Amino acid sequence: MTDAPRTAKLTFDDKELELPMYSPTAGPDVIDITKLYAQGGVFTYDPGFTSTASCDSAITYIDGGKGELLYRGYSIDELAESSNYIEVCYILLFGELPTKAQLKKFSDRITKHTMVHDQMQQMFRGFRRDAHPMAIMCGVVGALSAFYHDSTDISDPEQREHASVRMIAKIPTIAAMAYKYSVGQPFVYPDNKLDYASNFLRMCFAVPAEEYVVDPILAKAMDRIFTLHADHEQNASTSTVRLAGSSGANPFACIAAGIACLWGPAHGGANQACLEMLREIGTVDRIPEFVARAKDKNDPFRLMGFGHRVYKNFDPRAKVMKESADEVLELMGIENNETLKVAKELEKIALEDPYFKEKKLYPNVDFYSGIILDAMGFPTSMFTPIFALSRTVGWITQWQEMLNDPSQKIGRPRQLYKGATQRPYVELDKR
Ligand code: CMC
Repeated sequence: MTDAPRTAKLTFDDKELELPMYSPTAGPDVIDITKLYAQGGVFTYDPGFTSTASCDSAITYIDGGKGELLYRGYSIDELAESSNYIEVCYILLFGELPTKAQLKKFSDRITKHTMVHDQMQQMFRGFRRDAHPMAIMCGVVGALSAFYHDSTDISDPEQREHASVRMIAKIPTIAAMAYKYSVGQPFVYPDNKLDYASNFLRMCFAVPAEEYVVDPILAKAMDRIFTLHADHEQNASTSTVRLAGSSGANPFACIAAGIACLWGPAHGGANQACLEMLREIGTVDRIPEFVARAKDKNDPFRLMGFGHRVYKNFDPRAKVMKESADEVLELMGIENNETLKVAKELEKIALEDPYFKEKKLYPNVDFYSGIILDAMGFPTSMFTPIFALSRTVGWITQWQEMLNDPSQKIGRPRQLYKGATQRPYVELDKR
């Protein structure tokens, strides 16, 4: 952000305030209202933060109109095509493309931390078998702070980096263990000969009784899913991580907070909700009924996997994901199952329907990721944990950036109070 001498004038009642304006390197200018309350005695009102920049950041840029997503200035299309998730993690965390030596060192470092403390197995076993893996992840990730005391001092940059590496390294192991536990299979330890995505697939799908060979097409598709979900600027879960971190909470607790927020169906939970919706629709002839419900103002039903707060043209992640979906479905020989037919037809209808065109509701990343993950053999309950796994690097990078900001202070929004003003308490026997 560069300081510009421009100001915005705000006039209300008998007051006139001059508010500083800043121009970002890309995106709309911002009006600095930090002194608004002190100087004008008023708050701003912006539920859902639709017009609020909550921080300054140099990590991820989204142009919703153009359908552009950049990590540290590198486009998601190029990264999905030419890079890989571990390199993307490096780019996000450290801001620049790594040299070969830097990448190897970073990759080796991540690999060395893939195992979790063996005692953590007891934690998993404490959950009911039918627990949702996101519930397990919220608990287990929060509990990391009880196991890794040497990386919870947030005032020490080395500990912060150590915690970041640990989080990125251990989250696939935790997600895979949550899955294995839910299907009653033994936990599979990581195999550090494998790359990040292959290792995750093996930890999910290998069993001790049989040899498991990772299919490179599946590994590539998995890596792409991780890459496409790695960060997405100040979305709900990232803002949650920042808000939790702003109080000085330890990194593992902050990531657990992010996981909890991601779980909701309007956010990361949409991939699960989307596939369940496609299955509920069941056959192509039932699509009009569901489209009509989505348009009905009196019906809370929404077409899951459609629409986005920021992307109002197309979701660039969805474009890449669609290509991957085609490859995976061909490999798995399921180009024409009923759910897929429903998905394809629904996509076509929604793209042509005036309601969806007018409201700029396009298929988002979750529309296609659910289809790929289903084809790979993941149950729907694992879709959101995989999103959480991928987004961990984004959360931890944003958390680090926040703590490195000298102007950082505890996040504390205000409110437009509409409740009762002070009134006397009435004793129970007098009511
Ligand atoms: N189906 C039907 N109508 C919709 C949908 C939908 N999926 N999404 C938005 N609308 C309508 C909504 O009813 C509203 O209509 P009106 O103007 O008549 O009141 C209008 O479009 C604007 O909706 P909004 O709720 O004000 O938009 P938002 O920016 O607050 O919500 C959203 C964005 C993603 C929460 C929403 O589009 C949605 O609920 N989509 C389905 C869930 C989903 O797929 N979420 C994944 C997002 S991508 C992954 C991620 O980054 O988390």
